[in-house]
Order: sequence, then C-alpha cells, then structure tokens
Amino acid sequence: MKYFLDSAKIDEIKYALENWKIDGVTSNPKHIKSSGKPFFTVVKEFAEDFKDIDFPISVEIDPHLKEAKDMIKGATEIACLSKNFVIKIPCTEQGLVAAKTLVEKGVKVNVTLVFTASQALQVGRLGAAYCSPFIGWQESAGVDCYSLIGDIKTMYQNYGFETEIIVAAVRNGKQIVDAAVIGADIVTAGFEVYKDSFYHPFTDRGLKIFTDAWDDTELGSL
Ligand code: E4P
Repeated sequence: MKYFLDSAKIDEIKYALENWKIDGVTSNPKHIKSSGKPFFTVVKEFAEDFKDIDFPISVEIDPHLKEAKDMIKGATEIACLSKNFVIKIPCTEQGLVAAKTLVEKGVKVNVTLVFTASQALQVGRLGAAYCSPFIGWQESAGVDCYSLIGDIKTMYQNYGFETEIIVAAVRNGKQIVDAAVIGADIVTAGFEVYKDSFYHPFTDRGLKIFTDAWDDTELGSL
C-alpha cells in the first residue's frame, strides 16, 4: 500500500520522502493555510521542489467554484504547472461533471470529499485517477468505515476500474492497518499520524532492558 502525506509543509514532505519512503502528497486549502504561506506560493513550491521525481501531489481547486465549467477552468490552470499535479475536485454532481471532462482531457483527477460507495462508484466509472473516501470524519462520529472501503474495493474490482482508492482523513495506525487489510491502494495521513503509527511504548521498554543489560555486560573485543 502506498503512503501519501497529507500536508502542505515542504519541510515535512521532504523529511517523509527521504526517510519514510512516502509515495505522494495530498494537500487541501486547510493544509495550505496552516503552512502560513500564500496559496499559490505553496503550489509553485510543490511544482519546483519535486519536479525531478515522479511524485503525485494533489492540489485542490478553489472550493468556491460550484459550476463544472468554472471547476474545469480552475483545474486546467493548476494542472499545467506540473506533471506531478493531480487536481482535487469535490464529489458534487457538478464536480463529477467536471471530473468527466478533465479525465477526457488527460488531467489527473482526485475526487475528494467522498463519503458513500455510490459516490465512489461514479468516480470509478468516470476513470478518475483517484477516489478519496474520507474515513476519519465519519469514524469520529461513530460510523465504522471498514465496509465502505471494502465495498469500494469490491466494486472497482468487479468492473476493472483503474481508479486508485486513497483512504483519506486517517487519524491513527488502526485505520492505516484497516486500509491495508482491505487492500486499499493508498492511505493519506498527517505527519504525526504516521509518526505515532511507528511507535510503541513496549519498543522503548525493551530498548531500556537491552541497554541496561548491555551496560552490565563486559564487552570484550571484536
Ligand atoms: C485528503 O486528501 C484530505 O486532504 C484530508 O485527509 C482531509 O482531512 P483532514 O484535514 O480532516 O485530515
């Protein structure tokens, strides 16, 4: 399963790329706001800093855009800035209309804000590069999304859709593992979520035991 970093902070993206082997980035207007930089400054940094590698970076269109024709225009303007750019289009009826045209024009699309299998089915039918079901928001409200991801996976397999499933808005290691067990293509999570998923206190406890033993042992020479 591929790991995407859900972030717009260039430093943490570079760290995760070099040290954790992440496979791509998903951003959204909220992440770009928290980077503290102007929107298009970040977009241009995405284009420049990763131009030499094959590294999909999802960039969202202006969320004010409601009509398909305006979404297509906004998406096309961003898409031409980098071969790595994947354009995030919201899963509204007009968003799906825009996604259809963009796919036909060869623009890579990530349909975002997907919450049901019926939304995901249409995303697959249109041939979007990625479908992003958000699970964290629903699971925080007590909805178990395990079957949602499983149903999307089954539907895409049934019909040979090539759309990759990005399990999004992931909050913890359990959700990452659930996505992998189901066989989702990709998970996207924030920097701290991945860091936490690599950690276990027993690992530290074991290290302490082994360090103490090491210190109490005569080492001799090699
Ligand atoms: C995914 O592509 C989204 O950027 C992301 O997961 C949004 O959710 P969050 O900001 O609530 O984590």
